[in-house]
Amino acid sequence: MDKEQLASTAQALVAQGKGILAADESTRTLQQRFDSIGLEATEDNRRSYRELLFRTTGMEEFISGVILYDETIRQSAADGTALPKLLSDRGVIPGIKSDSGPVDLTGFPGEKVTSGLDGLADRLAEWARLGARFSKWRAVIAIGEGIPTSMCIEANAHALARNAALSQEAGIVPIVEPEVLMAGDHDIERCEEVTAAVLSAQYSELIAQRVFLEGSLLKPNMVLAGQDCSRQASVEEVAEATVRCFKRTVPAAVPGIVFLSGGQGPQEATEHLNAMNAIGGCPWQLSFSYGRALLEPVLVAWSGEMANAEAAQKAFYHRARCNGAARSGGYTAAMESVAA
Ligand code: 13P
Repeated sequence: MDKEQLASTAQALVAQGKGILAADESTRTLQQRFDSIGLEATEDNRRSYRELLFRTTGMEEFISGVILYDETIRQSAADGTALPKLLSDRGVIPGIKSDSGPVDLTGFPGEKVTSGLDGLADRLAEWARLGARFSKWRAVIAIGEGIPTSMCIEANAHALARNAALSQEAGIVPIVEPEVLMAGDHDIERCEEVTAAVLSAQYSELIAQRVFLEGSLLKPNMVLAGQDCSRQASVEEVAEATVRCFKRTVPAAVPGIVFLSGGQGPQEATEHLNAMNAIGGCPWQLSFSYGRALLEPVLVAWSGEMANAEAAQKAFYHRARCNGAARSGGYTAAMESVAA
């Protein structure tokens, strides 16, 4: 294992002012996103959409890396350039979604475990040859009556750590993503309690499996009230609870925490990241690895029409720029009204 190279890739992914674009929607998830604009998700539509994103002028100012789906890492731009090369030629690091998605956790109703460990070492070696320098494995943890169980937390922590260890063996930086879902009517205190339990189990497991923490990143949820909770927390409360929770559970050796958006609105996700960075004094970089919060306005602007490509790229550049500013607590609502 080349520890120096892993640590330097991890640091580059959380470079000052930059974050990650999660463009790794599975075919099924992308179909749902395309449904919202009435577009059929054919292979060519998926390819054109990703090419449009990756060709956005100036995105490298704010985007350090892009997470790709297995189909995408094998696709080429209209001019024949492989999509991972299109990214790396402009200094953006290609990554790969390495899990195969959540399945029911047998015997534990309402809970999931992420699949994809069988044959993973071979797939990682192939993805590395195709240009991937980091991987992302996502686990989903639901909050509800009597859940999450400790079995769900442990089974997922184990698989996340296996992916991390195998990725590092292949020279790939693992992004460890244990996502506590926003669905439900639980309050912010319950989310904090569950997130802390998930993260402390996760780091015990990563350490037990001898994962090199300096060459890894964490991709967690923020600490938020459930979507259906009648008392939604303020931006400051979310920032304080999230930073407090992570200080208690995430080792300082981890170079960065790259948040998922998980269903927050685009502007809300930016405000939360900004408020956390405004608190300051954290041992890790606090950055973003957003999917929906970066891409929702892009899909609306694009609507599947190539004639709208420029408007869509502007929308992407704009959100990337706002989140880039939030990396240092320098985002202001006034930035939203300035055309990109
Ligand atoms: P969202 O930001 O849309 O939650 O997606 C991030 C991601 O990569 C989920 O695995």
